[in-house]
Amino acid sequence: MAAVALLTFAAAVFWWQASERSAPPAPAVSASNLSFGGRFTLIDHSGKTVTDRDYDGRYKLVFFGFTNCPAVCPTTLQTVTVALEELGSAADRVQPLFITIDPEHDKPPVLAEYVSNFDRRIVGLTGTTQQIAAAAKLFHVYYKKVRDKDGSEQVEHTATLYFMAPDGTHLAQIPPEASPRKMAELIRMEIDKMPHAQTNKAQP
Ligand code: NI
Repeated sequence: MAAVALLTFAAAVFWWQASERSAPPAPAVSASNLSFGGRFTLIDHSGKTVTDRDYDGRYKLVFFGFTNCPAVCPTTLQTVTVALEELGSAADRVQPLFITIDPEHDKPPVLAEYVSNFDRRIVGLTGTTQQIAAAAKLFHVYYKKVRDKDGSEQVEHTATLYFMAPDGTHLAQIPPEASPRKMAELIRMEIDKMPHAQTNKAQP
């Protein structure tokens, strides 16, 4: 107990001395102050080279996965498909982008075949391993090839969905376990908020 108290006191003194000498230390990096998104160059499921700029002017729903994913990815794509239906005409303002984290396997024709099982507005994106690594880094997406118990190759990956403004600004994260209705609600809420966001941005 005494040792703990002493250490705490020492830490407090150190903190006090440190803060006397300089400005308060920067807050620790947390998920809340990470930035998401940015410039990317990838290849869409038709084989065309695209950049983030190709989707300017539309909201973007960005998520990562791979076509051999046994459970989470197909469920997420199905959720997105139903959520887009729920959104009705508002869905036309949203571009869903499914970025593979298994580019060695998920070449454009593989992706094209896969996304054809879901809403036709979903675009599959692939690229070189470097392009995919760069895109994943922009969204702080973790992915790693692992061997399953049965010996099959799997890719562990972050399954969060990122909702981006028409100018590419990150607006919200949507958990993959969200129901289609919840996903549609979150998207609609962000779209409805937008006029205010633009007003704020215009002010000095
Ligand atoms: Ni997956």
